Amino acid sequence: MSTAKQFRLAIAGLGTVGAEVARQLVGNHAQLAKRANLRLVAVAARNKNKDRGFAMDGLEFHSDPIALAKRDDIDGVVELIGGDANGIAREVAETALANGHHVITANKALLAHHGKQLAEMAEGKGLALAAEAAVAGGIPVIKVIKESLAANQISRITAILNGTCNYVLSTMQHAGCSFEVALKQAQQLGYAEADPSFDIKGLDAAHKLALLASLAFGIIPDPAGMAVAGIDGMSLADVQSLEGHTLRLLAEAERQADGAVLCRVAPVMLPLEAELAKIDGPLNAVTISGDPIGAVTITGPGAGAGATASAVLGDVIDVAQGHIAPFFGVPAKQLKPARPPKTSTASHAYFIRLHV
Ligand code: HSE
Repeated sequence: MSTAKQFRLAIAGLGTVGAEVARQLVGNHAQLAKRANLRLVAVAARNKNKDRGFAMDGLEFHSDPIALAKRDDIDGVVELIGGDANGIAREVAETALANGHHVITANKALLAHHGKQLAEMAEGKGLALAAEAAVAGGIPVIKVIKESLAANQISRITAILNGTCNYVLSTMQHAGCSFEVALKQAQQLGYAEADPSFDIKGLDAAHKLALLASLAFGIIPDPAGMAVAGIDGMSLADVQSLEGHTLRLLAEAERQADGAVLCRVAPVMLPLEAELAKIDGPLNAVTISGDPIGAVTITGPGAGAGATASAVLGDVIDVAQGHIAPFFGVPAKQLKPARPPKTSTASHAYFIRLHV
């Protein structure tokens, strides 16, 4: 049992991930307690009475997450409301920081659009902004780029960053079911966003890629500056007619010789023997190339309650232990504007299927 000072938490949002984080905090206390002295004080959700698999006794309940973020008896707010970049989640994060609370979030849309401002706010107050769960679910990729690979000049990132799309494509490929059936399954398994168009249109992967590109190249996240294509509109025939290849939604960021950074998200045909072609179901994978390391690939569960809660709780323990570092690895004020290349010299294989 940790004898460290108690770290008091509040969770805003009890959806798939929020409820799992609360269940772990309430039920897995002995394991967590080896690392930090955590206490869940309050939660905020729309509906108090829904059964979420953990006891609410002793927890303060708020239907207004802003009121939760203003509490004066907490140290950190775990923002798991999700949604788009300008929704209530932004207000919760800003209110929490303004009230002197650390913020832990899984919200990639929020950080891709407002991460610089939020990081500046946190850094100005000596608070943590932590978001390992925002990119690639349970894979510790933010820490890897920010800490383990900090000495590297990164040149390229190639990744599968959306578990829903990967589940849909690989399920269509292996089980032969339609796009709609596979997407329904991904939603039922808790992989998809509340609005799954974020997943299938490639926007969720673009938000995550924008964050990885920031961490790797020291640029301001710029999801609007990249070419994004999703997997909506793919038919079973498209997926099954790729002789010796498979389809994956790839997210790629590359630093060019003149310092511009090319980012794109698109469905790409991969030879079956390629490392990323073997990434199935809700798994994600990220290959980071740099000097002096060469290349490193990390894989793991990219979506789902358990994977995402694991990353959130890792951040909670870090912050409770006092590990407070700039979210982007460098002070947010030092990030440079993203500069997409004027012309793209990238070459790609294309597949054209003709109905005759
Ligand atoms: N909807 C996201 C995905 C959840 O499918 O990858 C994890 O960020």
